[in-house]
Amino acid sequence: MAHFEDATNEYSEVHSSPEGDVLSRLRRDTWLSTTKPQMLSDPIQGRFLSTISKMVKPKRILEFGTFTGYSTICLSEGLTPQGEIHTVEINDELENIHEKYFKKAGVLDKITRYYGHALDIIKSGKLEGKYDLIWLDADKEHQIEYADFAISKLNRGGWLLIDNAIWGGAVIDNKKLAKPKSGGSRIHQLNQYILNHKEVENILLPVWDGVQIVRKI
Ligand SMILES: C[S@@+](CC[C@H](N)C(=O)[O-])C[C@H]1O[C@@H](n2cnc3c(N)ncnc32)[C@H](O)[C@@H]1O
Repeated sequence: MAHFEDATNEYSEVHSSPEGDVLSRLRRDTWLSTTKPQMLSDPIQGRFLSTISKMVKPKRILEFGTFTGYSTICLSEGLTPQGEIHTVEINDELENIHEKYFKKAGVLDKITRYYGHALDIIKSGKLEGKYDLIWLDADKEHQIEYADFAISKLNRGGWLLIDNAIWGGAVIDNKKLAKPKSGGSRIHQLNQYILNHKEVENILLPVWDGVQIVRKI
């Protein structure tokens, strides 16, 4: 099964538009210079974010979990000409790589970066105004708080995307669900929260590690 999934992922990647030179160099640099390069989005996931952004044509994007900025650049591809991205990352040691690659991608002036714990940034009130597209890809401990904030900051008809909504299958493993500290149980709670939220409709796509696509109604 895993082999088949790997093969379909590879086939899809080969038959999708390539990520391009800047993103490919950022991918290499991320693997050479960070301790957890596996956190990086795959090229196919990056093309997914780019495609969604081009479909939504957002004026304002918010991202939680910048990492080295790969997904930020992918999301920027669908911005309107005057559009802007606000992105939050706890690790300020990534600042140099952000500067370097946002500049190379020609989007440095469109991106406002916030360094710190996402909960503190939320509480600081710095994330002003409403957003058309929000990408949630930071820690999984506070997913419900982030999703709650994100929904409150979406324009009507705006979109929230949440990564890792299946958590390697842990959300459907009853034994793991019973454990209060398991990532699976947290994410299961998030999925329930989204499903029962009166202001949104959603689809939980069973691709990769699960992607929640949520629309504010
Ligand atoms: C999975 S990575 C993001 C990957 C990135 N979006 C991409 O597609 O390449 C998660 C990121 O969230 C950051 N992070 C973890 N906890 C955080 C928190 N409490 N507040 C803000 N960022 C956090 C991590 O440092 C890491 O860079």
